Amino acid sequence: MVTLGIETSCDETAVALLRDGKEILANVLYSQADIHARYGGVVPEIASRDHLKKLPYLVEEALKGAGVGWDDIDLVGVTYGPGLIGPLVVGVSYAKGLCVALDIPFVGVHHLAAHLFAHRISHPDVPPPFLGLIVSGGHTELVVVRDWDDLRVIGTTRDDAAGEALDKLGRLVGLGYPAGPAIDRLAREGNPEAIPFPRPMLGEGFDMSFAGLKTAAVRWLKDHPHPDLPDLCASYLEAIVDVLVDKAIRAARIYELERIVVVGGVAANTRLREVFPARVAERGMEVFFPQKELCTDNAAMVAACAHFRFAERGHRDPLSLSPGANLPLDGWGKEVH
Ligand code: KG4
Ligand code: ZN
Repeated sequence: MVTLGIETSCDETAVALLRDGKEILANVLYSQADIHARYGGVVPEIASRDHLKKLPYLVEEALKGAGVGWDDIDLVGVTYGPGLIGPLVVGVSYAKGLCVALDIPFVGVHHLAAHLFAHRISHPDVPPPFLGLIVSGGHTELVVVRDWDDLRVIGTTRDDAAGEALDKLGRLVGLGYPAGPAIDRLAREGNPEAIPFPRPMLGEGFDMSFAGLKTAAVRWLKDHPHPDLPDLCASYLEAIVDVLVDKAIRAARIYELERIVVVGGVAANTRLREVFPARVAERGMEVFFPQKELCTDNAAMVAACAHFRFAERGHRDPLSLSPGANLPLDGWGKEVH
């Protein structure tokens, strides 16, 4: 069974073809980052127009790369939220049109649930239950995953997401957008203990807050107008890593879960991937990260989620399904029988 996955919720136009929910036949992506870089963040209207322009070509590129024809597609899965509404409408409308034209089922996918499915592609032998930590540019969520369609959000950020906190530091010191990869590289050369940044809400519940960290960086930069960038990046990143690791381990302990699964763009981070295994091992737990290219936005994870919904739960969505900019994750995908 071949699933076509489509992802257009933010500034990445992504298309993938997945066989039987696990074998990636094609995984292509066009990033609009360069277009938005000069504005320091994503401009929704520009993003929508660019998705509309690039999506048909990316689908053709994926088909050609995989050696698959239109008639070989059995199912289309598309992100319908959360995200920027204009970009979501572009992807969802295209997917619906394709399903009508090819007379095949249509499945809407939650973007954050899709991030969790990146783990299913990378580690098919490590199923739920586990504690999911979703760390992306727009979200930071702690999720108890009892089954693939039993998602319970137990903690979230009260303000900025972890990736957003990194991107904001990047804007302050001119590292471009998104700044996560540049901070990752610079931090490897720096001392994580050079600057004592705060660890917001450490030890308090499962919610997180990263906006204060940016304020602390602004204040520090006022006193240090010529910062040592590697030290600054390493120290700032360390504060985020400390909070994420602490919250996830405590949540896993309290919910009696022995495995932690970290997904989303920030899960590609070198330091996070280094610190987590050591800290969980002390507790007799295990941590898993998808391969790096499946951490950041992609459509293979969207196709994997759609395949699960259709092939293992018999679900398909009506063509009246509307995109939702704030689609909630808690309880998403649970069929009401
Ligand atoms: O999951 P994602 O690709 O898109 C969203 O759904 O938001 O995550 C993007 C975020 C950005 O904030 C970016 O700076 C961050 O992930 N990111 C990283 C790395 N690669 C991407 N952060 C830290 N280290 C990285 N290597
Ligand atoms: Zn994402």
